[in-house]
Amino acid sequence: MNKLAAGNWKMNGMRADLDQLGQLPTPAGVEVLICPPATLLAEAAGRGVLVGGQDCHSATAGAHTGDLSAAMLADAGASHVILGHSERRSDHGEGNADVRAKVAAALTAGLVPIVCVGESAAQYEAGDTAAVVRAQVTGSLPDTIPDTLVVAYEPIWAIGTGLIPSLQQIADTHGVIREALRARYGDRGVRVLYGGSVKPGNAADIFAQPGVDGALVGGASLKAADFGPIITALAAS
Ligand code: PGA
Repeated sequence: MNKLAAGNWKMNGMRADLDQLGQLPTPAGVEVLICPPATLLAEAAGRGVLVGGQDCHSATAGAHTGDLSAAMLADAGASHVILGHSERRSDHGEGNADVRAKVAAALTAGLVPIVCVGESAAQYEAGDTAAVVRAQVTGSLPDTIPDTLVVAYEPIWAIGTGLIPSLQQIADTHGVIREALRARYGDRGVRVLYGGSVKPGNAADIFAQPGVDGALVGGASLKAADFGPIITALAAS
């Protein structure tokens, strides 16, 4: 299975920002994915990188003002969709059951879900990381998953803060996630990404940890000058 460098632009980016997609390296063995705001999806598709959504509704269509179905994302050119990001969980009150329903909808539409899990600062300080992450993995995934599914471990306190767990903690938590996946689904090719303040300066160290198959990158994915070296570090890992 290829490694995955996924950029999450969140609520950032205008049409002019798509020009830099052509500057991103696309080394062998690494899938490069950009998840721009939905307004840019169709225009981002076909520019040399994979494109994905940042969320989808669990229903296929209907009276859900402001929402997007997984099939709409696919129709716009998306191959992936981020689901259960902590900003969705906190800003929109999404729980594990909501995320699980969205994952099922994404799979039905042929999208690869990138399912986010991660503990809060309080949970981290209380030493609850493993239990929280295990419960989120269990609760957010349906009973049947494809090998292509991706889990992203994103400690909430590391997102946008410049802080990251110790490298040992990253390796340990990826191990917890892999074990939870193995216990439920057997040995599968599910990739586990790390996310939260991944930068050009720390990427190589993070990618050297066992069980890290790539990164979900927020702020540093907005500029090709930052995301490019992260992609290159992943290819070299
Ligand atoms: P960050 O965001 O890289 O800006 O910390 C990561 C994310 O939320 O996916």
